[in-house]
This record gives sequence, C-alpha cells and structure tokens, in this order.
Amino acid sequence: MKKVYVIAGCVLMIAGATMCRKPNASVLDDDSKFDPRLSGGLATYMDVESGGSTGPIAGLSERDARVHDLGDQLFEQSFVAAPAPRFGGLGPVFNNVSCANCHHNDGFGEPSFGKLGSSLLMRVSLPGQDEHGGPLALPGFGGQLQNVALVGVQPEATVELTYTEQSFSFADGEKAMLRTPAYSLINPYMPLPAGYLTSPRLGPTVFGLGLLENVPESTILSYTDPTDANADGIKGRANYVYDPYTHKTEIGRFGKKANTSSLLVQVATAFQQDMGLTSYVQPKKSVWGQSQMASVPESAIPDLADSMLNAVVFYVRTLSVPARRNTNNETVKRGEAIFKQINCSACHVPTMYTGVVPGLPALSGQRIHPYTDMLIHDMGEGLADHRPDYLATGTDWRTPPLWGIGMFEKNNGTPYYLHDGRARTVTEAILWHGGEAQRSRDQFTQLSKADRTALLAFLQSL
Ligand code: HEC
Ligand code: HEC
Repeated sequence: MKKVYVIAGCVLMIAGATMCRKPNASVLDDDSKFDPRLSGGLATYMDVESGGSTGPIAGLSERDARVHDLGDQLFEQSFVAAPAPRFGGLGPVFNNVSCANCHHNDGFGEPSFGKLGSSLLMRVSLPGQDEHGGPLALPGFGGQLQNVALVGVQPEATVELTYTEQSFSFADGEKAMLRTPAYSLINPYMPLPAGYLTSPRLGPTVFGLGLLENVPESTILSYTDPTDANADGIKGRANYVYDPYTHKTEIGRFGKKANTSSLLVQVATAFQQDMGLTSYVQPKKSVWGQSQMASVPESAIPDLADSMLNAVVFYVRTLSVPARRNTNNETVKRGEAIFKQINCSACHVPTMYTGVVPGLPALSGQRIHPYTDMLIHDMGEGLADHRPDYLATGTDWRTPPLWGIGMFEKNNGTPYYLHDGRARTVTEAILWHGGEAQRSRDQFTQLSKADRTALLAFLQSL
C-alpha cells in the first residue's frame, strides 16, 4: 500500500503544480513499472516509424500549437540579405542561412564547412577569460569564425578540414577506423592574431530540450563528484556561464561544453553568431568590432521581431523525444544491462525527473530517459580542443544526451557523432572516449563480440 501512496502522491503533486521531487521510493526506481518506450515521458513522439523524426509535445493549446508551427517554419526558413520584405537581415558574415541547414531534421548535421548542408562551426578565442569568465574574444574575429559572407563582403576566414586515419582492432579481429581531424584557417580577411585557440563543433539534435531545461539544478548537482569520492574514475562538474539575458551567472545546460544556460540565449545567439541576425537578446551584429563593420550601420531595430525569436525558442522547447523501439527484444535488454555494468550510465544517466513547467503539462514532472548528466567531463587528449569555455577546460565536454541516437541514420542520412562529427559509427564514438571515460571505454573493448553487438543494439533502440 505504501508504494501506491507514493505514486498517487506524486501524481497529485503534479496536478497541484508543485514539484514532483523524487521520493526515496523503490517504485520510482523500478523500470518495470513504466513503459520503457517513453524516453520523454508525456513529451514522447510515438509515431517514429512514420517518417518524421519528432513533432510537438502533446497537449499544446491551440494558440501554443500555432506558435510551435510558426517557430517550425522559421527554423526551416532560409534568411536573406536586408533589405527584404520578409526574412531579411542575414549576415553580412555568417555560417549558414537557416537553422535546419545545420540541424538536419532537428538532428545532427554534416561535418563540413561552406556548403548548404554544412553544420560545423569554429569557435575561436585567445587564452584567458573575458570579464564574465567566458572565452576571450579574438580581436577582429570575436568568439566564432563566420566562414561565409554576403556578396561584396569577405568571410572572416575559410576552414580546411582534413583527416588522418588509424585503425583499431578488437581481440576478435573486428576493426574500426578512427579518423583524427585537422583544421586550418585560410584566407583570413585580416591577419589572425598569434596564439589563437579553436573549437570545432557540429550541430546537435534539438529535441527534448524543454525537458532538459527544466531538470532541477539540484538534480544536476547531485551527479557531480568533483573529488571522485566514489573512486570510479568519474568526476563530473557543472559549468557556470554568463547569461546575457538575465545578466547573471547560471548553470550551463546547452552547448558542447555546457556553455549556455537557457534556450532563449542559445537560440538568440545562434541567430546572431551563426546567421548574423540581431534580436532583443543579442542586439549587436556579429560583425561588430571588425574593420568591415563600416559598411553595416548599427540599427536600433533588431533584425528579428521579438515574436519571431520567441516562436523559435518555443519550437525547440516543445519538440518531443522519439519513442524507443524494440524494447522487448532480449538482445536490447542485455545491452542495457551491459551499458550499466561498464558504467556508461555514470555519465549517460538513464533516468531523471523534470520540475514544474507552468502551462506545459507534458514537460512538467516527467520521468525522462535522456542518458546525460548535463555535466562536463575530462574526456582525454584524443578529443581535446584545448580551448576553455567558462569552467570547462580544453579536455572537457558535456555528456550529450543519447535519446534518439538510434534514429540518426533514418532521419539524417549518414550519421556522425561526437562534438566535431569525427565518428561515423557508435563504435568509433565509444573508442574515442578517454579521460574520465577511459575505464568504460577499455571495458567496452574487452567485451565479447556478442556483448558489443548487444550494447549497440540497445543504443540503436534509443
Ligand atoms: C552553422 C551551423 C548552425 C546553425 C546555422 C545553427 N546551429 Fe544550432 N547549434 C550548432 C552547433 C555547432 C551547436 C553547439 C554549440 C555549442 O557548443 O556552443 C548548436 C547548438 C544548438 C542548440 C543547443 C542544443 C544542445 O543540446 O546543446 C540549440 C537549441 C540550437 N543550436 C538551435 C538553433 C537554432 C534555433 C538555430 C537557428 C536560429 C540554429 N541552432 C542555427 C550549429 C548551428
Ligand atoms: C566520463 C563520462 C562518460 C562515460 C563514462 C561515457 N561517456 Fe559517452 N560521452 C561522454 C561525453 C562527454 C561525450 C561527448 C564527447 C565529444 O563530443 O567529444 C560522449 C559521447 C558519446 C557518444 C556520442 C554521442 C553523440 O551525440 O555524438 C556515444 C554514442 C556514447 N558517448 C556512448 C557511451 C557508451 C556506450 C559508454 C560506455 C562504454 C560511454 N559513452 C561512457 C561522456 C561519457
């Protein structure tokens, strides 16, 4: 009876819009009591087999559904140079012309530069910190290299990407090819200052983010272990970053180094840095501070109407998570057990609860399975960019969520993994794990072929 009370109490608490804090009850830890397909709780997209990757969360009011649709259209929209009757303000320097060109089908993009479907961007900075503890802007270039420009304007520089390959062999003879990227910045519009740092980043998935935005900070902090007190080799720290909207230091949740605090700031900064469009949150042109700025008068009126920015923020906030598939398959179940055994789950945390989101019940008090702790971890030299980002060091990366990872191939064509898209298979992605994840990675390499296959089958079911 006690167990029933716990569940009922939790439901009542949700109904009463108070936070459904996870009681120390075994019922809530017992996965068998819940439908394993519901990666995003009520915010799960069940229609995954029909083609679309994801859609709006359930239960949106008619008005909210319209705002979601408007945001969806703007996410797909190619912006153009001003003056234009609609969707003007692009550039003058930028990385791509639409959100969707980098976040293909709301998912991962393609690791290349300068093409329509290119989703890589290059952050740049000087060693040291700015007045808020963030990366120190590279004079003349800012914090991000814009490698594309409008006619008559020079891109800040272009980027050349090459790979060197090396092969890895498992004990049973199976091979994997690991490719190490190298980048060079060419044709800069002015000489690049000496000693600059770079950080290549590939556009990630953008669904389920309204859930991650509402995981209580206390939950995220409960996963930290800065001194490795439990001696599992895994630390995990929260990043704290400056929020240009609240003007406060906040916990970082988004970006490859947990370098952004909220979806509002993430989207406004994407418009500004990736596409050159200003808004009420990021009112300065990205080209600001450059010698090329003379040709771009600073305008008091942002390129984006407030309602446009807010609609795109609402769109990513209310995108549901693809439902899991094949959850009753015995191999998948065995793979899930192996995932826990070799401690992948220490960072890719399977289960947590969201707090209360007024007006959006599908995001409120949900039991979700994002497979991330939203913390930054030292991932070793192999993955290092050597460019700090607030409290994240040059070897730190945020654990990415794994929900939906089994849908990448279906939705995005060729899949690419890791912060820079160097991995072409999940196996390659795991083999790149080092630093705090070294033990897990080594245990993975020692699994039998059948166990590796089971683990991969589990990941494909997410
Ligand atoms: C040039 C490619 C590119 C374009 C264009 C782009 N993004 Fe991104 N997006 C990225 C990359 C790369 C990241 C990771 C950024 C980081 O690490 O700071 C990202 C991160 C995000 C995130 C955070 C995801 C997470 O889990 O951390 C959101 C949300 C997002 N983008 C939305 C948008 C929206 C909305 C637009 C259009 C206004 C947009 N992006 C345009 C490449 C792009
Ligand atoms: C110490 C924390 C940690 C552990 C342990 C860990 N991971 Fe990761 N994982 C990460 C981080 C951080 C990244 C992102 C690295 C990057 O982008 O360079 C990542 C990336 C991944 C990716 C690529 C996801 C994407 O979106 O590109 C997969 C797949 C993955 N991990 C699976 C696993 C598996 C399977 C295990 C167990 C063998 C494991 N991880 C153990 C932290 C961890």
